Amino acid sequence: MALLTLNRALVVHRLFNLPAMTKKEIAIYKKTLISLYDGKFLNIFEYGSGFSTVYFAKFLRKEGVNFHVDAVDNHEGWYGRVKNLIDRAGLQNEVTVHLHPFQPFWEKEGWDWQVSPPVGKFAPASSEEINYIQKPLTLNKKFDFILVDARFRRRCLEVAAQALRKNGIVCLHDAERSHYHSTTKAYPYSQFIDSGHFYPFEKMAHRMWLGSLENSAVKELTNVA
Ligand SMILES: C[S@@+](CC[C@H](N)C(=O)[O-])C[C@H]1O[C@@H](n2cnc3c(N)ncnc32)[C@H](O)[C@@H]1O
Repeated sequence: MALLTLNRALVVHRLFNLPAMTKKEIAIYKKTLISLYDGKFLNIFEYGSGFSTVYFAKFLRKEGVNFHVDAVDNHEGWYGRVKNLIDRAGLQNEVTVHLHPFQPFWEKEGWDWQVSPPVGKFAPASSEEINYIQKPLTLNKKFDFILVDARFRRRCLEVAAQALRKNGIVCLHDAERSHYHSTTKAYPYSQFIDSGHFYPFEKMAHRMWLGSLENSAVKELTNVA
């Protein structure tokens, strides 16, 4: 049911393999990636693989950026689909998707879309869930940019702070959800952005968030035409 709603809402994005992001978000994301590139190498980590993984990798290739993306996913079927898109785009050397399989939250017993669960009820518990959250710390590198766009976002934001290189930036998608906000406070440079709508007449307005431990340019990066 949840997946059906997600798939319906994102029908245009899925048709064109576009990230599930607004136009403004995509523009900010691109501007941020380019601003972080030092002319040598750009390391990116993504919690939650998807169309964004392939779309931004193609963008960076077109811009002549040397980069590598590590993405992690928990859903085997989705992981297979993303891998397929990566192969078709010839991005096997630039993009690695890691699988740590565990049940999506919407399949867990007691999950109810209508009611916010009590704090801790669906907290990560299995080793695969913990490995998923810890993934960027196990890859022996620091990241210039980390996108948090899938499971256990509060925990992922905590880990991301430890995995960033100096001046690195973290982006939180769906930042309108207030239950993620407690961990954004760990980042001294922090900016929420109204990112607009997916479609004309969409009721809900989306928000994104950029944060950094040391990079004071976060605010400027959110000014896009
Ligand atoms: C909403 S997606 C976003 C991923 C990516 N950052 C993007 O913008 O394309 C986040 C997670 O939802 C899950 N997901 C999304 N669509 C799915 C589908 N059709 N089947 C199974 N899982 C799905 C995947 O596990 C994925 O990691």
